[in-house]
Amino acid sequence: MPHAGGPHRPARRPRTADLRDVVALDPVFARPGEATELPRFRLPDQPSLPETAYQIVHDEAMLDGNARLNLATFVGTWMDDHANRLMVEAADKNVIDKDEYPQTAAVEERCWRMLAHLWHAPDVAHATGTSTAGSSEACMLGGLALKRRWVEARRAAGKPADRPNLVLSSAVQVCWEKFCNYFDVEPRYVPLTEEHKVLDGHDLEKYVDENTIGVVAIMGVTYTGMYEPVAEIAAALDRIQAATGLDVKIHVDGASGAMVAPFVQPDLAWDFRVERVASINTSGHKYGLVYPGLGWVVWRDADALPESLVFRVSYLGGDMPTFALNFSRPGAPVLLQYYQFLRLGVEGYRAVQRTSHDVARYLADGVARIGAFELWNDGSDIPVFAWRLAADHTDAGAGWTLYDLSERLRTHGWLVPAYPMPDDLTDVTVQRVVVRNGLSRDLAGAFLADLEAEVRFLDALKTPMPSAGERSAFHH
Ligand SMILES: Cc1ncc(COP(=O)(O)O)c(C=O)c1O
Repeated sequence: MPHAGGPHRPARRPRTADLRDVVALDPVFARPGEATELPRFRLPDQPSLPETAYQIVHDEAMLDGNARLNLATFVGTWMDDHANRLMVEAADKNVIDKDEYPQTAAVEERCWRMLAHLWHAPDVAHATGTSTAGSSEACMLGGLALKRRWVEARRAAGKPADRPNLVLSSAVQVCWEKFCNYFDVEPRYVPLTEEHKVLDGHDLEKYVDENTIGVVAIMGVTYTGMYEPVAEIAAALDRIQAATGLDVKIHVDGASGAMVAPFVQPDLAWDFRVERVASINTSGHKYGLVYPGLGWVVWRDADALPESLVFRVSYLGGDMPTFALNFSRPGAPVLLQYYQFLRLGVEGYRAVQRTSHDVARYLADGVARIGAFELWNDGSDIPVFAWRLAADHTDAGAGWTLYDLSERLRTHGWLVPAYPMPDDLTDVTVQRVVVRNGLSRDLAGAFLADLEAEVRFLDALKTPMPSAGERSAFHH
């Protein structure tokens, strides 16, 4: 029989007090949990010290790409120190607890009313809106309001309401495909072509009929950053109404552009100045300049958001109307949005968005000058632009593709996706850069230098780049 302390006796697990001693003695990466392995796909049996768990999570997150070099995302990756402080202070607030956090609720309403004003709602007092988790939820709510409004009008007229359709460009963001799928609406995609790079109202009468709940116009198409001309789309719908009597409304998906156009193109009428626009969404976490987790949707007036969709939660002894897919959601991003609104004001937002614009134009010029590319657009709508390979690099078989270039740029830390364009243009592959607050002119210069060096490297190859099939892993 082995004696006490002998080789068969299981090692005694140190109690927490002992663990603290061990931590005090051991260097960080020699602690239990750091120096040994914790299970990854089931809960560990025992707790770890907070220092150990923190270090493990921190280190794992460090392996992600560097958010600031992520030129693929539209989502905010930089906020100032005051915002960072607020984020930590407000991390425990649940936006749905209106009664418990009445100030956050009040701030939320102030924010969407500010947006209603910014987007020229004819009467801000009669506009209505809400924060959301992002533009996806905001688009779903906008789509649901269009659908319910159509259903109620059809029922009131004694007509069938079982085959709703929505007209949109084939370049819509995936959230609209989800909306149509989840809520049983037929999507009617208007394909893009070289002549019609965005939905611009041409041929609209071929898609719109009595079952059309609305038309989506995108301010800042995800694939390219280009604006869809809302006023032209509305004019096409006016003509359709004159010919058929159908009164079809527009939802503007301004995920990015609704926080760029008011500052950079203030004279462009894309918002509630266009009478057919019933609702507008934006992502607070894109050009609203807040960290991920925030969207907004505003309806022109109560008519545009049927009362039958509204639920009430308790608020200050009474109740408050809400319209949302989620119940609980972080309140901190709402407070951060308010911080940005106060901090920047119109002039501040203009300065930030103009700077991003200047950087985008500088980059687009630089990309065009390399010679291997042809710009698809130049970043003059939202500060986003895309390019394809120049004819001599595709037809003459340069031996490399934009997917190869994307991979090469990754070795420098830059994330710049390459992907095919949507239906009817799928043979065109583009690469896109999204310029956001935080991509300074200096960083942009470093990016251009890396891009040029990689093009030189790829052009100098004696044999074509090996390919494992050119499938883009990028999702819009
Ligand atoms: C035009 C457009 N609509 C909707 C979305 C979805 O936005 P979110 O990521 O905020 O849900 C995006 C995201 O890129 C977008 O570009």
